[in-house]
Amino acid sequence: MRVVSGIQPTGGLHLGNLLGAILRWVRMQDEAECLFFLADLHALTVDLDPAELHSNVREMAAALIASGIDPAKSVLFRQSAVPAHSELCWILNGTARMGWLNRMTQWKDKAGKNREGASVALFDYPVLQAADILLYRATHVPVGEDQKQHVELTRDIAIKFNNDFATELFVVPEPFIGGGTTARIMSLRDGKVKMSKSDPSEMSRIHLTDSDDEISQKVRKAKTDPEPLPDNAEALEARPEAKNLVGIYSAVTGESIDRILARFAGQGFGAFKPALADILVALIAPIRGRLDELRREPAELDRILAAGAARAQELGAPVLAGAKAAVGLG
Ligand code: TRP
Repeated sequence: MRVVSGIQPTGGLHLGNLLGAILRWVRMQDEAECLFFLADLHALTVDLDPAELHSNVREMAAALIASGIDPAKSVLFRQSAVPAHSELCWILNGTARMGWLNRMTQWKDKAGKNREGASVALFDYPVLQAADILLYRATHVPVGEDQKQHVELTRDIAIKFNNDFATELFVVPEPFIGGGTTARIMSLRDGKVKMSKSDPSEMSRIHLTDSDDEISQKVRKAKTDPEPLPDNAEALEARPEAKNLVGIYSAVTGESIDRILARFAGQGFGAFKPALADILVALIAPIRGRLDELRREPAELDRILAAGAARAQELGAPVLAGAKAAVGLG
């Protein structure tokens, strides 16, 4: 089992990234050989301030390590430091079809009505993602629901390439959606939209850098409804804000929704919110502390990323060579 996943270096991590992706990665480290990278090439698909991209990469690497990604167990690196990602992407551009990419919902959403004005890189984004995955012959790709289609496209590219060039070079990977907490963490201000760093309201999300007081305050002010908590999970379905808060509790503690509700049924949010704030502070305070330390050691971070890139380069080299040979290059 080989696990590969990436995350875009879009600034500070928030609770949604932590519970939705990072803590799953952390748990997988003991079960499989893992490669995790900062997808800085993917960040070039949209307009971005170069200085910001540069600092985001380090900040994000620090946040991953602070959250429990252990560079001694996992290969942690920045995508652009391993040129094989770009090289393989170009080779796979010969295999991917325009029609396949045109069907990608992320492309349709991000390009919106202005397709003619979108970058070519945004359109090609999923092929680069396929290269990320196929380069390391990943068997499992932990991603959120929104990235599942890209992993399916990766499978299509792998199958067509293997078929067209009569090779077994690429491993056809599985998207890996499950694995413990799959809770989609929603905004604290609106239970119907994802917690996101692009939400203008700071109160909508909890950052790994928030102080204990800020965390408690955001939970206290989180939008809810006036009803007491129900005694079963189904009754939460029509109550997105309540469902989100209970879902966060469950994702942090690993307790089932039903068990949590058994304890809080009939009580209002005045009782539930302080309990939620407590477990969130207990989760985030130590991460914040480690992040603080790591930020003061940029040279150490760079060393870790360089070592990770060297290892990734080594692991990917034979596959890139195989792909070049298969298509008649080199
Ligand atoms: N597209 C992914 C996201 O936005 C990030 C990503 C880039 C990725 N390359 C990847 C995820 C390869 C898994 C495997 O979340």
